[in-house]
Amino acid sequence: MTEETKHSMDSAHEEHLHEAHDFDGITELNNPAPNWIVLVFLVTIGFSLLYAVHYFGYPDNGKDQISEYNAKVVAFEKEKKEKQLAANPAAALSREEVLASGAKLYIEKGCIACHGAQGEGNNIGPNLTDNFWLHGCKPEELVLVITEGVPEKGMTPYKSMMTQEQISNLSSYILEKLVGSNPSNAKQPQGLECAQ
Ligand code: HEC
Repeated sequence: MTEETKHSMDSAHEEHLHEAHDFDGITELNNPAPNWIVLVFLVTIGFSLLYAVHYFGYPDNGKDQISEYNAKVVAFEKEKKEKQLAANPAAALSREEVLASGAKLYIEKGCIACHGAQGEGNNIGPNLTDNFWLHGCKPEELVLVITEGVPEKGMTPYKSMMTQEQISNLSSYILEKLVGSNPSNAKQPQGLECAQ
């Protein structure tokens, strides 16, 4: 086959592909891409849409970069806190956590039985909500009376039932939450008024 015949065959083949427009003899062929390439192209577009919606996408799906970053920060803070807690249990608790732990212990360790559900006192134990104290109002004085108790007067020693940290949380709870809370059925004051 000569170059000549090959060229004329190509022209015949291309004839029906010619677009209608003609600019100064420059014509265009309508030569579509093979189906498999079109298919790959469409699949790619479809995938990109799904990808964009999933990763940048609909609000709060937790997959976008900002959510990922926030989740990492939260995880990091948590890990940091756990490490701190392992190293020094008391320092890692926030004030609210200390007081919440105290409130829980107040119920769990049975203080309610002798000091009332609100710390109002009853015919066994004194009122813990007023500012009058038999054994002092300083945090370390409360810690001491809870740790050693007053066995001859009926106050249980708690040193074998709680850690020092728990006793300290409980004392903070009494001083910061119970004192001044004015429950309606409060027992009359006993001891000396707190000088602080
Ligand atoms: C079995 C009864 C009983 C239980 C249970 C009990 N207490 Fe007491 N508590 C007393 C009595 C009675 C006193 C008064 C002691 C005295 O007269 O010296 C007292 C005194 C105290 C005081 C000193 C009050 C002051 O005026 O100085 C504190 C603080 C206290 N208790 C906290 C607690 C806590 C916290 C718990 C729970 C972990 C608890 N108590 C459980 C009976 C009890």
